[in-house]
Amino acid sequence: MKPVRIRTLQSTDAEALLRFELDNREWFERFIDARDAAFYSAQGVADHIAAYLSGFAAGTWHPFVIEEAGGKIVGRANLKGIDTSERSAEVGYRIAQRACGRGLATLAVRHLIQEAQLQWNLKQLVANVYAENVGSAKVLERCGFLIEPVSRQEGTEHEYRFGLLI
Ligand SMILES: CC(C)(COP(=O)(O)OP(=O)(O)OC[C@H]1O[C@@H](n2cnc3c(N)ncnc32)[C@H](O)[C@@H]1OP(=O)(O)O)[C@@H](O)C(=O)NCCC(=O)NCCS
Repeated sequence: MKPVRIRTLQSTDAEALLRFELDNREWFERFIDARDAAFYSAQGVADHIAAYLSGFAAGTWHPFVIEEAGGKIVGRANLKGIDTSERSAEVGYRIAQRACGRGLATLAVRHLIQEAQLQWNLKQLVANVYAENVGSAKVLERCGFLIEPVSRQEGTEHEYRFGLLI
């Protein structure tokens, strides 16, 4: 297994990120909401990175990439909607199909928990997972998240919400 490192997204990641997202587009769309078609271009990814980095600068978002030696991106993980008064955020992650099943999502979620504590001083994390996404639910449970009862609003019947107090 190739070693990986997890680091903050940077503006020079555009080419590697576009490759990662294009290679895995069909794989991701089986489990999570599809991105706009406009995202899958050099300009679309540059705009996406700029938006995420401006969220990072504003303290509302912390985007990470999981990178193999040689610079290939094999996964992404994000603290989203960081709320410093509520001391909460949402976690999100996606792993390249070819890199799945070797613990990378678990590693990424543990990293998010550690950053949420040490860098952002948060107390609570949440995650939203479609019911069919058994692998993702397993990752969250392994990292200590507990399933929360969700009110049965329209459109959320097939989604589970997980929470973790840290
Ligand atoms: C879900 C996802 C993040 C898991 O990534 P990963 O790196 O393979 O995760 P890990 O290896 O840390 O752990 C996954 C676990 O789920 C298990 N698993 C995966 N699919 C499963 C399934 N359909 N049924 C039962 N278990 C499953 C794996 O065997 C593994 O458990 P193990 O370590 O005990 O063998 C990855 O499949 C992915 O990116 N999917 C598309 C995007 C996505 O769903 N993101 C999450 C949105 S909430």
